[in-house]
Amino acid sequence: MELPYAESYRIKMVENIKRTTREERTQYIKDAKYNLFNLKSDQVFIDLLTDSGTGAMSDKQWAEVMLGDESYAGSSSYFKMKNAIKDITGFDYFLPTHQGRAAENVLFSALVKEGDIVPGNSHFDTTKGHIEFRKAHAIDCTIDEAFDTSIEHDFKGNIDLDKLEKVLKTNDLDKIPFIIVTVTCNTAGGQPVSLQNIKDVRKLADKYNKKVLFDSARFAENAYFIKTREAAYADKSIREIVREMFSNADFMTMSSKKDAIVNIGGFIATRHKEVFDAASVFNILYEGYLTYGGMAGRDMNALAQGLYEGTEFDFLDNRIRQVAYLGKKLQEYNVPVQQPFGGHAIFVDALKFLPNIKREEFPAQTLAVELYLEAGVRGVEIGAILADRDPVTRENRYPELELLRLAIARRTYTNNHMDYIAAALKNVYDRRMEITKGFKITREAPVLRHFTVELDRVN
Ligand code: F0G
Repeated sequence: MELPYAESYRIKMVENIKRTTREERTQYIKDAKYNLFNLKSDQVFIDLLTDSGTGAMSDKQWAEVMLGDESYAGSSSYFKMKNAIKDITGFDYFLPTHQGRAAENVLFSALVKEGDIVPGNSHFDTTKGHIEFRKAHAIDCTIDEAFDTSIEHDFKGNIDLDKLEKVLKTNDLDKIPFIIVTVTCNTAGGQPVSLQNIKDVRKLADKYNKKVLFDSARFAENAYFIKTREAAYADKSIREIVREMFSNADFMTMSSKKDAIVNIGGFIATRHKEVFDAASVFNILYEGYLTYGGMAGRDMNALAQGLYEGTEFDFLDNRIRQVAYLGKKLQEYNVPVQQPFGGHAIFVDALKFLPNIKREEFPAQTLAVELYLEAGVRGVEIGAILADRDPVTRENRYPELELLRLAIARRTYTNNHMDYIAAALKNVYDRRMEITKGFKITREAPVLRHFTVELDRVN
């Protein structure tokens, strides 16, 4: 008989998590103004808010923590990280930052000006935030298939080359600092970009003499999908694929809290010295000196080790299969989920799940609250609240997809937890027709409102 898959690690340390009653949760979520970010972590049983910084570090990473060099300048930890980045991505120049959005802030301070246009595949919210904060515009060029959760397509993160070329043709090229390719594309549902698409974007960028930025938070998961779905790459190793991916980019921003499996950290890497020099000024201003940039030496060490572990096939295979395990369970229960399953999360289609909730009453947020009440499971809304208001008209933006994201932390939960989550959602699904009222916003911030938004039930 064929052996089933099993994790290529065992557990050396555990962290207890706390169950709560429905009664308690009813109070907790009310006190949290129905914003799941406001919950205390011990009010949550299984936390699927994010896979960012929530993974379990390995024994080797913890050993690296002890070896960290905390020198202000020129620490050996900086060089360990530099060598790992060069080895894995091929980039010669790098700047450490405290996390991904800090890398965006530093790089965009050097490259993005008011009135600029930045095309890409469904920019992540902080990326878009850093573009719009500079009074520049993000234009989404993702393929249309990404916006229908029932269509099977191997690379829903792909950029539509016609849409991209139209942007390049119809705008002043001086106003386009670069093209962003997000690997994998979080906002489109953790969906990968094919190497063919990456190469085609590069070609188009060269034709118009434009640079290409990879938003690389989940680059290794993207490489796994290329290996398992793109025939030409089936026999290549993850590291070979990663090198080929990055050979098509001019620079990258990285949130190391994802595929480098650390709790905090990020970086910018590039092949262009002039970009490194320009960004260095802002790194010193915003993050710290060039050889630590907002990170402790011990964290840089753990990150360097994490880059190697995060690009091992076995690790990625375990991780992505666990996410798919949850997805399949939910499908068995007829819960509408995005297909194919994303790399880091399962995305539940809230418009299909809760047909009785109007878009103005935030169906995905309503579903997130219901799931929490049902079982103490915390997911996150990826819908109209996250989409913010249009910066010019100040109208609510209603994205094509209204999703509940169930993000799975790396090496953290077992498949029993997956079974529990699936059963909880099934229970909510069984009573979905009784859920007829959603939420209204009572307080919100001008940008990135989802973190601090306050809500109340619609009567
Ligand atoms: N780019 C992508 C694709 C991301 O998913 C994130 C973060 C960032 C950039 C910003 O990185 O958090 O280190 O500042 N995503 C997290 C998430 C927050 O939950 O998906 P950061």
